[in-house]
Parts: sequence; C-alpha cells; structure tokens
Amino acid sequence: MEFSFSRLLLFCLQALWALAAAADVPAARGRPAGCATRCGDVDVPYPFGLEPRCAINDGFWLNCTTPVGHATPTLQYINVEVTKISVEDGKAWLKTWMSRQCYNQSTNQVFQNNAWIGFAGSPYVLSADDNMVIVLGCRSMAYMLSDAYIIGCMSTCHEDVPLRNGSCSGNAGCCQADLPRGVQYYQGFFNDFYNTSEIWRRTPCNYVTVMESAAFTFSTTYLTSTVFYDTEDGRTPVVMEWGIARQTCEQAKINKTTPYACVSNHSDCVDNDYAGYRCRERRKLHRIKERYFRQHGGLLLFEEMKSQQGVAFKIFSEEELQQATNKFDEQQVLGHGGHGTVYKGVLKSDTEIAVKRCMTIDEQQKKEFGKEMLILSQINHRNIVKLLGCCLEVEVPILVYEFIPNGTLFDLIHQNHSRYISLDTRLRIAYESAEALAYLHSCASPPILHGDVKSTNILLDGDYTAKVSDFGASILAPNDKSQFVTVVQGTCGYLDPEYMQTYQLTDKSDVYSFGVVLLELLTRKKAFNLEGPEHDRSLSMRFLYAMKENKLEDILDDQIKNSENTEYLEEIADLARRCLEMSGMNRPSMKEVADKLDRLRKIIKHPWAHENPEELDSLLGEPSTVTSTSTTGNFSIAKKAAMGLESGR
Ligand SMILES: *[C@@H]1O[C@H](CO)[C@@H](O)[C@H](O)[C@H]1NC(C)=O
Ligand SMILES: *[C@@H]1O[C@H](CO)[C@@H](O)[C@H](O)[C@H]1NC(C)=O
Ligand SMILES: *[C@@H]1O[C@H](CO)[C@@H](O)[C@H](O)[C@H]1NC(C)=O
Ligand SMILES: *[C@@H]1O[C@H](CO)[C@@H](O)[C@H](O)[C@H]1NC(C)=O
Ligand SMILES: *[C@@H]1O[C@H](CO)[C@@H](O)[C@H](O)[C@H]1NC(C)=O
Ligand SMILES: *[C@@H]1O[C@H](CO)[C@@H](O)[C@H](O)[C@H]1NC(C)=O
Ligand SMILES: *[C@@H]1O[C@H](CO)[C@@H](O)[C@H](O)[C@H]1NC(C)=O
Ligand SMILES: *[C@@H]1O[C@H](CO)[C@@H](O)[C@H](O)[C@H]1NC(C)=O
Ligand SMILES: *[C@@H]1O[C@H](CO)[C@@H](O)[C@H](O)[C@H]1NC(C)=O
Repeated sequence: MEFSFSRLLLFCLQALWALAAAADVPAARGRPAGCATRCGDVDVPYPFGLEPRCAINDGFWLNCTTPVGHATPTLQYINVEVTKISVEDGKAWLKTWMSRQCYNQSTNQVFQNNAWIGFAGSPYVLSADDNMVIVLGCRSMAYMLSDAYIIGCMSTCHEDVPLRNGSCSGNAGCCQADLPRGVQYYQGFFNDFYNTSEIWRRTPCNYVTVMESAAFTFSTTYLTSTVFYDTEDGRTPVVMEWGIARQTCEQAKINKTTPYACVSNHSDCVDNDYAGYRCRERRKLHRIKERYFRQHGGLLLFEEMKSQQGVAFKIFSEEELQQATNKFDEQQVLGHGGHGTVYKGVLKSDTEIAVKRCMTIDEQQKKEFGKEMLILSQINHRNIVKLLGCCLEVEVPILVYEFIPNGTLFDLIHQNHSRYISLDTRLRIAYESAEALAYLHSCASPPILHGDVKSTNILLDGDYTAKVSDFGASILAPNDKSQFVTVVQGTCGYLDPEYMQTYQLTDKSDVYSFGVVLLELLTRKKAFNLEGPEHDRSLSMRFLYAMKENKLEDILDDQIKNSENTEYLEEIADLARRCLEMSGMNRPSMKEVADKLDRLRKIIKHPWAHENPEELDSLLGEPSTVTSTSTTGNFSIAKKAAMGLESGR
C-alpha cells in the first residue's frame, strides 16, 4: 500500500494530462426534429422538451405558458416555474413556495401557511449541496419535515446583538441548516410556541424555506418588512438534481422497458444515488472531476505530500473504487451511518477495503478536506482502523479504510445473548478503545476528536482486538450553533448532553459517548431502545437511576455477575458514571479512563497480586501511601485507592 510521492506525482500528472487531452467532440443529441429549444429567456435542452414527444420521458416534459398578467412566457413543471436547466451538472433551478407565520394586526391573530413541495415520483431531487434550510425571524423556531427528516433551526434577536446585512448566525434574525441528500418533498412548519404576536411592530413575520444558498443574502429588511415574501410572490429559488430514471447506469442499460439514454459514443453514463442516472458528455465529465478535486483540496494535499516523504496514503480514482465495490452495489453495504454509507470492496491487488461515501459537507469543510486527510493519514495506532486513502474527484469525498473482518462491538454484544463474553474480554475491548481515543486526543494539535463514539464504530479483529473506526467523522460534525439536525436515531443515546447545548464538540464529548459504550459492555443493553416506556429508553438514564437507587446489580449482565466480580464491576460502573457527568469538566480525560481500565484489567488478570502487595503496587504504579494500607490486609480499600477510582480524586 506504500505509495511514494514520485509515483503519486506521476499519477497526478497523468490524470491531469488525461483531463486536458479528453475528446473534444460534441455528443449526438437525442432530440427529435421540430422541437422547440427555448421558452421565453430559458433554454430547454434535451432530455427536456416542451411536448411529451420532445422529452425523453414524461418527467422531462415542461410547459411553456404565459401566466395571467405577464408579458413573457415561463417554463413550468406542473405548477412550479423552472428558470434554468444545466445538462452538464444535471441540475435545474426552480421557484418553490416558502412558509410563513405572521401576526395579522386587524384580526389580532397569528396565521401561518405551511407550504410544501412534492416531487416524489419525478426525476427531481433537492440538491443537498446547493440548498439550505433558511429560517428568518426574531422569535422563530421552524423546520422542514420530510419522510425521514426534521431539519430546522432557531432564529432569535437580542438587544446586544445588532442585526447585520449578510450575516445569518442564529442570534440576529436568521439561521440556516444543511439539507440531507435525497429529499423529494417537504413541508415547512413553525413551532407554535414561538411567534411574532408580541413583536409584530418590529417583525411581523417568521419564514422558513429551502432555497439555493448562493441566492440568499440576509437583509435586515427581511425582518422589518414583508419584502422577502413580496419580491417573488412568496417563492424562493431552489436547485434540483435530476436523473433520467431512478436506475443505475447498469440497470438502465439492460432494461428493455425504458430506452437507455446515453447512447452517443461520446457520452458517458453518470450515476446519482438519489436522482437516478444521466448522461454527460465525456469531456465535461472530466472537467467536473477536476473541479471537485480542486474543491476538496486535492492540490493542496499533493503539495503537502511532496514535503512529507513516505506517507502511506493513496488518492484513489473514482473508477478504481467503482470497480472495488461493484459500482457501490447494495450487496456490498457494510453499514449506514449519520455521515454516510460504508461499502466493502476489494482492490485489484486483492486487498480488502472499507469504502465510505460521505454525506454532504459544506464549502468550508470542502476546502479543508485535503488538509484534514493529511492529518488523519498519519494516524498510526494498533487500535485504530487505518485510513488508506481518499477519493476527491467526486462530488462528496470518499474515504478508504482497511477492512476489519469480524464485525462491530455492537454485533458482539447485542446479536446473540447466549454467546459468552468474559469480563476480561470486555475490559480489554474497553481498554483498547479508550487507548485509541486517548491517542487521537493527544497525537495532534488541535486534538482530533472522534465525534461519533459508539459500539457500531468499534470494530473487532479475529482475536477481538478493538479497532476504533470512523474517526474522520468529527470533521464532518456540524458545529454551527443554529443547526439542529434530527436525522438518525442511531446516535441517540450516545450524544453528549453538553454538545446539545453548546454545539461544540470537545474531547469530553468522546468521553461521554465512551461511557455509554462501557455501559453496553457491562449491561449488554442497547444505548437507546425505541421500545419500552419513555424513561427506560436511554441506557445512560437507566444506569444513573440504578446507581442512585443502589440497584446497580439489576442492570448488569448476568454473564459477568458473580460474587468475585462484584467489586470490580462497581469500579467499572463508577468509572462509567464519571464519564457520564453532565458537565464535561467533571469527566475524566480519555487518558485517565484508559489508565484506569488498564489497572483494573491487570488486577483481575493477576489475582495473585492479592497476596503480594508489593507486586500489586508495582503493577498499579501508584504512590507508596497505598502500601501501608495494603499491608493492613484490607485490600478492598487499598485497591480502590490504588486505582484512583475514589470519587473526588
Ligand atoms: C402542461 O399543461 C397541460 C395542460 O394545462 C397539463 O395537463 C399538463 O399536466 C402540464 N404538464 C406539465 C409537465 O406541467
Ligand atoms: C388579516 O386578516 C384580515 C381579515 O381576515 C384579512 O382580510 C387580511 O388580508 C389579513 N392580512 C394579511 C396581511 O394577511
Ligand atoms: C441592509 O440593507 C438594506 C438595503 O438593502 C438597507 O435598507 C438596510 O438599512 C441595511 N441594514 C443595515 C443594518 O445596514
Ligand atoms: C404566540 O406565542 C405566545 C407566547 O409567546 C402564546 O401565548 C400564544 O398562544 C401564541 N399564539 C399562537 C397563535 O400560537
Ligand atoms: C425497467 O424500468 C421500469 C420503469 O422504470 C421499471 O418499472 C422496471 O422495474 C425496470 N426493470 C428492470 C429489470 O430493472
Ligand atoms: C459509435 O461507434 C461505433 C464504432 O466505433 C459505430 O459503429 C457507431 O455508428 C457509432 N455510433 C454513433 C451514434 O456515433
Ligand atoms: C448463540 O451462541 C450460542 C453459544 O455460543 C450458540 O450455541 C448458538 O448457536 C448461537 N446462536 C446463534 C443464532 O448464532
Ligand atoms: C473472524 O472472521 C474470519 C473471516 O471472516 C473468520 O474466519 C473467523 O472465524 C472470525 N473470528 C471470530 C472470532 O469471529
Ligand atoms: C476494611 O475497611 C472497612 C472500612 O474501614 C471496614 O468496614 C472493614 O471491616 C475492613 N475489612 C477488613 C477485612 O479489614
């Protein structure tokens, strides 16, 4: 896997050369003869058409009509105006309705309209990269509701925070949140608790809309007047991605029912997971790849690698990864996460890999991506899954990790409860994971935060060696104060409560999540259980309650409960409790946690140390004050003190 820089450079030069030399021949268009190509000022390129026979299929049929009171015709899909179509990018610009919640002075009431868009069954999907959920208002909590998503934010105004044009920060009249991929319909909603009934003189309305980020610049007049709504009759521009059919290129090629669109010799088929496949011309495809490569900091990455010889990190091409994963086949999926989907793959060299396709990242993160990759590529720890490389020439970066064959800690714990897992094994997995996290926290400055510690992110090798995975996730974590995203329940139960208030991930957020993993190991219960009564759903709550009521035993896993273990289990439980402290400041560092787990392991593994306090002492590496206690024979006190698990230490 070693890649010397000179080879990397060669690869890079070849790739750029190939980009430059790519064919410059226009593709044969599939548009039938006699079809209009424009509507008003708007170009209508094939596969779109103004009559059913002119469009590749009904989804691409648009109407050109002149609305009442207008001079020029507009392009429309159903009732939605289309203002621009790009075949190269596979995008279309539409105008969709916003939702508002206003105070009506004459009726003395708050009214709202919850606008919705519905493109299910159409070729159009909201572009996650180009759009944002935008909320305006001085007392507003609003969100978009889709099938699987509730996404929104809270926008407020404060006397000491001046409203500024161009600034959308959450506490000055405007907030924004990222959109997930694949959304085809949504409706805007307002939390009724927040409204403008008391501030209507200054701010009559709140708004929520999903719109093109590039088309939005906050203006204070949006709050003080109704201009935001009135300018376009309550509409905002939105960018849609489109595909010919909701099939992959491969499926489309063999499907006899629907004609395959990319028949030209100079057009390639392009897959889009959410919108379906489409064609581009070949030359343009290369240009797009190059653009993504630049956007993701690819050139910077190469520059840096030049100065750091011998980095075992590879820049993969999209084609290579397509081949390795059988074109990202469903069958290859190892798991879905909040940040993307992981596929199993095999490289030409027979090396097994895990390939992670990320979900959307924002512009700033895109620019930093190459830099971050370089840092992550240098991480080398036996309990951390190795990052082998990345692919930057695609819309969202793809990460390539070493493949760990024996599943996740989650599977081990929860899949088969009759399977025996010794306390020693559990402690070792906990210790190794803690070590890995402590290493991440200390190996770079600023520290690398994991950001998504959970049992599904701890992988296991053949001999149950723990390998922490997905550590790159922290660079993808939202750190925007105004952004709250409820996407998957998966991470529920692990999330640091302090992060939910500050939106700031810290090393102590990892400690909290690790505390929950420790609980899973102790109890063999899931971190979050959707079934069952409300107060029983979160494992950490159940655990803290059990601790408080002195009923720890009720919640521990039977397999490890026995009279010999009781004391150790209490120690581990106490460590978990400290990890779960509400305030990050009161939690131990990952290093302290790892050290304590290590000491505990050694004591359990070497019971002979009971009889030999000096051995124990050197084992524990603790100050000599302990010796005097141990020589009294009251080992329980000595051990506790030695392990530094006494609360308050
Ligand atoms: C175009 O207009 C016709 C007649 O009003 C209507 O039946 C049809 O649904 C419209 N098609 C689209 C794609 O908007
Ligand atoms: C306020 O309510 C009145 C009475 O229902 C209605 O006529 C008027 O259009 C409303 N104003 C706004 C701005 O919606
Ligand atoms: C923001 O810009 C608008 C004009 O677009 C102007 O009327 C308004 O006063 C500006 N607000 C501030 C705080 O400068
Ligand atoms: C508006 O908010 C106030 C609290 O600020 C609440 O008492 C009132 O019921 C709300 N009105 C509506 C129509 O939701
Ligand atoms: C072919 O395409 C049609 C229409 O999209 C779809 O209903 C059908 O399932 C596809 N058949 C195969 C074999 O993929
Ligand atoms: C594509 O290329 C093949 C052979 O190179 C040729 O036979 C065919 O006519 C070409 N098709 C088009 C649409 O140009
Ligand atoms: C669960 O584990 C037990 C003990 O190792 C084994 O006998 C049993 O076959 C396993 N069950 C399944 C469904 O894997
Ligand atoms: C780990 O996976 C390998 C390959 O899939 C398998 O042969 C081995 O039995 C597994 N080991 C354990 C402990 O599950
Ligand atoms: C150990 O110390 C505790 C607390 O001082 C005491 O209650 C207990 O009896 C002692 N046990 C032994 C075996 O000395």
